[in-house]
Parts: sequence; C-alpha cells; structure tokens
Amino acid sequence: MSNKNDEKDKLLDHEYDGIRELDNHMPRWWVLGFYFTIAFGLVYMVYYHMAGGPSSDKEYQMEMAAAGGKQVVAVETSLKPVTDAASLAAGEKLYTAQTCAACHSPNLGGLVGPNLTDDFWIHGCDFSAVMGNIKKGFQQKGMMPYGNGKPLSDSELQQLVSYIFSKRGSNPPGAKAIDPEREKKCAAK
Ligand code: HEC
Repeated sequence: MSNKNDEKDKLLDHEYDGIRELDNHMPRWWVLGFYFTIAFGLVYMVYYHMAGGPSSDKEYQMEMAAAGGKQVVAVETSLKPVTDAASLAAGEKLYTAQTCAACHSPNLGGLVGPNLTDDFWIHGCDFSAVMGNIKKGFQQKGMMPYGNGKPLSDSELQQLVSYIFSKRGSNPPGAKAIDPEREKKCAAK
C-alpha cells in the first residue's frame, strides 16, 4: 500500500496545469501479456514466413481437398479465351505436342480421358478451371501436369484451352459417352 513517502519517490518532476504523474510500474499481468505477444509474433513469423508453414491459400486448398477431393483448382488468371486463327493453330499444335490426343483422342472426343467437346465436365468448365486442371493434371488417373509433365506458359495454356473451347459442340464421331455419375452439365465459358 502506498503512503506519502512512496509517492514522493515516484513523483515525476513535471506538472501540467496542476496535474502531476507518478512513475508506477505496469501491472505484472499486463507486462506478461506484452511479452506473450512478442513471443507469439516471433513464433508466427518464423513458422509462416521462414520455415515454410502453409499460406492461407494453401490451407484453403488443403481443407477443400479434405472436404471431398473434387475441388476445382482454378488458376488465378484474367486470361480469356481467344478466337484468332493463329492462336487456335498454336493451341492445336500444343494439343498434339503435349500428347493430349493419346488420351482425349485427336478429335477431342475422349478415349481414356473424357470428351472435351461436350457440355459435361467433371472438374469444372470455366476457362480458369480448365487451365488449372491442365496445369495440375490428374496424376492418380494417369494425366500428368500439362498432359505430359512439360510446363507451359500461361499464354500457351490460354492458346491450348482456347483451342479446346473452339471444338465445343463439334460432336466428333466415336465420342466417349457421358459419365452421369461424375460429369455435370455445365456450359463452358
Ligand atoms: C495419360 C492420359 C492423359 C493425357 C496424356 C491427358 N489427359 Fe486429360 N485427362 C485424363 C483423364 C483420365 C482425365 C479424367 C480425370 C478424372 O477422372 O478425374 C482427364 C481429364 C482432363 C480434363 C478435365 C475434364 C473434365 O471433365 O473436367 C481436361 C480439361 C483435360 N484432361 C485436358 C487435357 C489436355 C489439354 C491434355 C494435354 C495437355 C491432357 N488432358 C492430357 C487423361 C489424360
């Protein structure tokens, strides 16, 4: 408990409009709380920013994967389908070079892999979803990232997916049947 002498020791030597200040210690609980925030901040920084802890984006992906494994992995892109002849020709070349035809047929009607010309898709039909799916592949089903493992640039992916979209509704002969269990109707944009 403070008495007059204590207060004299703690009194600071300034005074404003008759208001004086005592140099009291911060309460122990407050100081401990302060040290705790510093320790927490350090641990947080080291784990998430230096030791490779998952980003919020990664955590989201992991939760979506845990929730059903059928998440749509859209790539973050502002790229849109293009329709000029040169890009579509480049896309067709990539389709052949990346061996997509081996599993999706030269006419895109599907073989081991699903038909890419109809309105029925398993993993999403948005431009960005299809780009993302080709980027990551479906390795447990035999499709490597980018079809055969060789990375493509975003603009190459754009040409490739634009080419695929240009074949939509082409109804090629011998097209693979729809799998009603897994494929959902979805008009590709
Ligand atoms: C070794 C075989 C194989 C190759 C090569 C391959 N795919 Fe696939 N692809 C598959 C299979 C199988 C699936 C179905 C995955 C599933 O069942 O979940 C698939 C799925 C897809 C899908 C998703 C379809 C949907 O309905 O959502 C797209 C898009 C696709 N492939 C495009 C391509 C492109 C483009 C290439 C070339 C760059 C390619 N694939 C190369 C086997 C292949």
